[in-house]
Order: sequence, then C-alpha cells, then structure tokens
Amino acid sequence: MIRPTTQIYSNYTIEDFQVWKTLFDRQMEILIPIVSKNYLDALKTVNFTNDRIPDFNDVNSTLKNITGWNLHVVPNISPQKEFFEFLSVKKFTATCWLRTFNQLDYIEEPDMFHDVFAHVPLLSNEAYCNFFKGISDIALEHINDTKAIELLGRIYWFTIEFGLIRENNALKIYGAGIISSNGETKHCLSDASEKINFDVKTMLTTDFRTDILQDKYFVIESFDQLYDALPEIKNELEKLI
Ligand SMILES: [Fe+2]
Repeated sequence: MIRPTTQIYSNYTIEDFQVWKTLFDRQMEILIPIVSKNYLDALKTVNFTNDRIPDFNDVNSTLKNITGWNLHVVPNISPQKEFFEFLSVKKFTATCWLRTFNQLDYIEEPDMFHDVFAHVPLLSNEAYCNFFKGISDIALEHINDTKAIELLGRIYWFTIEFGLIRENNALKIYGAGIISSNGETKHCLSDASEKINFDVKTMLTTDFRTDILQDKYFVIESFDQLYDALPEIKNELEKLI
C-alpha cells in the first residue's frame, strides 16, 4: 500500500478521526492508573486529545521550544540505519497514516497511533531524550556493523519500546510498544510475564520476539538511570562485537 510521505491534514477522513478517538479513549481508560507519570505529564505538554489527530506542525513547534526534537514523516517503518541517523540529529521518524476500524487491535506495521500517540509525548522529556540521543550516537559509531546494531536493538526494544519504570514502589509503563497496544497494556503488569531489574549485560544478551506479547520486561528506576548507563552500554557492546 502506498503511504503518505508528508502530512496533509485535510486528507484525514471522518473514519481516521473516529479511529484516533476510539483508540485514544480506549487506551487512556486503561493507561491512566498504570502508565508513567512522565508520560501523562508529557501528553499534556504536547496537548494530545481524543478529538484531534495531532498536526505535526503543532507538535514540531511545541517540541522545538522544549527539547529541540522534531518529527520526520516516513511512509513506513524506517530501516535501522536511517532510523538511527535521523535520531542522532533529533529527528524522530514517524508515519502520519492511521489503521482502519478493521485493524483496531492489530496491524503488522506501526501507524501513527503507535508512532505519535505512544512515542511522541516523551520527546518532550529532557532526560528521556538525552538517553534516546545517546543510544543513537552509539549506534552511529557502529552503523555498518550488523551485529552491533542488532544488539543495540535489544536495548532499544527493552527500554523505548517495552520498558517499565518504578514510581513510588509501583511498576508503571513507559515503553511505546506497550502504550499503543491494548493487549500488551493488559498483559505487561500481570504475573504472566517476568520483570527484570535494568541491567545492561542481561539486556544485551537477551533475545526478543516481535510477534508475541512479551514474556519479560526490564524495569528502570528513572530515565536518568538510562542516561547514566550509556558508557556501560557502549563498553559492554564493544566487548560483544
Ligand atoms: Fe516504536
């Protein structure tokens, strides 16, 4: 399917707005008690609401004044090399199309409900962005080394996509892959999955699958903990390649 490479706001259909509202309302109802306060604060900062598909121009001007990040529209998920190259210049690659009503619960490729609803709010969080930029800088140093990129992909997967954070002694969600998924949101805090305290070596040597609900999640104490671990990530990565 041909996907848009620029966001033309007037092209969104009534169904698009209905899909956004349905997904937004359904996820917020589950997320409010179990998502990280960082995400809830960030959602207010970027001013996402159920009745309006985010306009990338508005998002970019908001982020510009806070962290300097902005969105770069891509038609589909970016190849890892391109993805990290954009990240290192504070550009997050995002799709601007939405799934249909028939695909509410599952689509094979990320759409803007994942890329924008789940990822973008935290791009207004300075500590989160510092880690995000740091991990992409390490990736760029090894951009032509397939093994290194695959291993860094594990760090990315277990943090940015499927990370949990401890807040006031309770586990909360900050990973975008969880935030945008109805099934994963209900599953991740249950006893059906293992919770592992953040540990660089364990993360780098733990494989994952993309086609099932996760069976293990890594728990951080703060985004600063992730940032502070960057030298260790670089060091341990270089021992493995
Ligand atoms: Fe993602």
